[in-house]
Amino acid sequence: MNLENIKKEYENLVKEIQDEKSLYDLRVKFLGKKGVLTEIMKGAKDLLPEERPVFGKAINEIKEFINNHLEETKQKLIDSAINAKLASEEIDVTLPAKKENLGGINPLNKVIEEIEELFISMGYSVAEGPEVETDKFNFEMLNLPKNHPARDMQDSFYITNELLMRTQTSPVQAREMLKAEGRGPIKIICPGKVYRRDNDDATHSHQFTQIEGLVVDKNITFSDLKGTLEYLIKSLFGENKKIRLRPSFFPFTEPSVEVDISWGNEDDEENIKWLEILGAGMVHPNVLKMAGFNPEEYSGFAFGMGPERIAMLKYGISDIRSFYTNDIRFLEQFSSDRND
Ligand code: PHE
Repeated sequence: MNLENIKKEYENLVKEIQDEKSLYDLRVKFLGKKGVLTEIMKGAKDLLPEERPVFGKAINEIKEFINNHLEETKQKLIDSAINAKLASEEIDVTLPAKKENLGGINPLNKVIEEIEELFISMGYSVAEGPEVETDKFNFEMLNLPKNHPARDMQDSFYITNELLMRTQTSPVQAREMLKAEGRGPIKIICPGKVYRRDNDDATHSHQFTQIEGLVVDKNITFSDLKGTLEYLIKSLFGENKKIRLRPSFFPFTEPSVEVDISWGNEDDEENIKWLEILGAGMVHPNVLKMAGFNPEEYSGFAFGMGPERIAMLKYGISDIRSFYTNDIRFLEQFSSDRND
């Protein structure tokens, strides 16, 4: 093969090369130890001595040409690979941003937060207590001695004779009063989970939440309680709502009331419909005494509500289990609230 043809063959082959590996193979084919040019060099021994330098020079020229050309081609391949990568990763900063899927706040938590904020704005602080509670705080300190019949009102999950899952948030009252060591004022709300032995259905759950409220100070009266509850209900459900108090019984409050909220016909006094919404009363003197307060000097009110019930009324939710079963279709109905 003459040298001109070798160059042509190289030029034809190199045109087809797309990647570095094939380019390397091409280098081996032409410049390698067993490559085309090495083979041709071997033919030099058959030439006349005076022809050899000319032949050698021509071979070296073509070697150099191929070598340089291979280097250039390699660099081009590298450059175009980088350019392709850059192009594929290009960020168009003018494109509209993707909307993040943030999810939503569970309506139960929304209600709890709303109530917390409302009371914080009235100068209350938020207190918490343990969910595994002692019999002493869950019952005895709340004027429910052992064997008191009112314990039946709250079927409990006992862990030992003295330990149980708290059945109400009222034990936090007793804990906070003890902490205050007989000196007021106390203004707290206590949100948290409570447990009762109920069979779960649309309106019962063995675990639910309560928010307890407690105010203890000098000269606290029943009208303070009523005014506070009225403000709470109107803030949650609207200015047109009315409340009605019915006498009731709780061992730790005296007098005790059940509080109803008007639910329809608000403008027609005779025909208003009422729904029970929370329990409340004036802190029983025994409870004050046991927690280190002098009932001659201090008085207080307490109330307890179920945020599930409030959320169910507020958002028209018919099944209490919806709050806990994490059905995404239920939760999604509240997701747009995230951006408000
Ligand atoms: N702890 C009571 C209950 O669970 C509610 C309540 C709290 C009533 C505070 C009066 C005062 O039923």
